[in-house]
Amino acid sequence: MKAEFKNEPFTDFNDAGNNLEYDAALQRVAAELGGDYPLVIGGERIQTNRKFQSVNPAAKEQVVGIVSQADASLAEKAISTAATAFESWKLTEPGERARYLYKAAALVRRRKHEFSAWLTYEAGKTRAEADADTAEAIDFMEFYAREMQRLAEPQPLTRIDGEDNELYYIPLGVGIVIPPWNFPLAILAGMTTAALVAGNTVVLKPASTTPVIAAKFAELLREAGIPDGVVNYLPGPGGEIGDYLVDHPLTRFICFTGSRDVGLRINERAAKTAPGQKWIKRVIAEMGGKDSIVVDSDCDTDLAAEAIVASAFGFSGQKCSACSRAIVHEDVYDEVLAKVTERANKLVMGSPAAAGTNVGPVIDEKAYRSIRHYVQIGKREGRLVLGGGTGDPGGYYIEPTIFADVGPEARIAQEEIFGPVVAFMKAKSFDEALEWANNTDYGLTGAVISRNRAHLERARREFFAGNLYFNRKCTGALVGAHPFGGFNMSGTDSKAGGRDYLLLFTQAKLVSEKM
Ligand code: SER
Repeated sequence: MKAEFKNEPFTDFNDAGNNLEYDAALQRVAAELGGDYPLVIGGERIQTNRKFQSVNPAAKEQVVGIVSQADASLAEKAISTAATAFESWKLTEPGERARYLYKAAALVRRRKHEFSAWLTYEAGKTRAEADADTAEAIDFMEFYAREMQRLAEPQPLTRIDGEDNELYYIPLGVGIVIPPWNFPLAILAGMTTAALVAGNTVVLKPASTTPVIAAKFAELLREAGIPDGVVNYLPGPGGEIGDYLVDHPLTRFICFTGSRDVGLRINERAAKTAPGQKWIKRVIAEMGGKDSIVVDSDCDTDLAAEAIVASAFGFSGQKCSACSRAIVHEDVYDEVLAKVTERANKLVMGSPAAAGTNVGPVIDEKAYRSIRHYVQIGKREGRLVLGGGTGDPGGYYIEPTIFADVGPEARIAQEEIFGPVVAFMKAKSFDEALEWANNTDYGLTGAVISRNRAHLERARREFFAGNLYFNRKCTGALVGAHPFGGFNMSGTDSKAGGRDYLLLFTQAKLVSEKM
């Protein structure tokens, strides 16, 4: 058994030496930009005529990679390959499967800045955000490997005289893994390796804007020795292959992280039984959020400002956990708004590759347009206090934006924007603040900044969020420490990085032998 799980430390980018190492990784990766990425099905590398160009959101002209696109017939091939591979993979010992993950984690750790540099180029992540993404990928693998070993141990059952009873967690079958672009390494690695360490095989359909980092990870799993066919890399247009994969009778489960619309569509389609299908498909979905930080009258207002700025503008607010609503008690409203504005104003927007940048671009043209549209809506619904503009037109830059005096039913207070936009809402009382915090369709993260014990206790009971934080930011869940997943339209409350997670990828079999 491995030593107890510990989180991978983050790199200190105040250290000049670490920055030099990151510079070197950026240079090494720059030499590889523009490469070709085929599909990988059963170890076979397949080039197709249809290609997708993945570009750097910070410099639209820079091609990160040219990626082959699958069609329905290749999706069929991927599923049948995964189904064949399942017949042998399901027989491997859990300990063996765990060792592939330990090896993969070690390989990522050895090339940490290189993976982060890919995240900088393809997802526009600043150094610190990219580094946290890579660290989380390592954490997921280290954590799920140990979890599989724990689940493989004899499970506690009530003793019956004259009987030998054992319970085993066995795999499900072929899983479709559809990760998001906003944690294109961490969440992709977590979903994929949870599925495979539990004994399943995977068709991995990467997010269309970040297929290169996904290809790099699929390559790494191969390097770690995962047999061909266990993970099949299948980029392609969602509309064309997404439905095909979800609908297929050999698909046993779908593990999805992304938008609410797509998640609900998957859930509906997965509920239909295809001819020849022998099971009820399982859907594990992590969708959106409209997350609030509630600031109480009795609180440390500097701490509140720090938490709001970090949660609203980290990775340009492109996290389902991001704070998009600051619900502040009227007694401290002006003070907190002023402090948040002052801090946000100091954030440096620019190339995510540069040391010292705090805010990089948003992911693509579609996101850029959508966020700018919400900024226009915000101008009608609230008072623009900061930002609202764009940056270097060579990339998809949007300034950190603050709207004040927004009503609880406003669109910018209700709809997920997924950008660097926060709405301030002035509450008359803690009761009202809590009521507003709960008035969305979502229930992913939230935070309360307060010194009032009774209020914290109330929030502990009444604030309906899967991940609720007190006196800290509402982003940055750590594997093992903050199992992550939300309520209502935020998903199936599948707690990634927690002890329940692998159960979602297994089924329990009881064997009772009369002695
Ligand atoms: N797990 C991330 C966070 O906590 C979001 O996906 O910020």
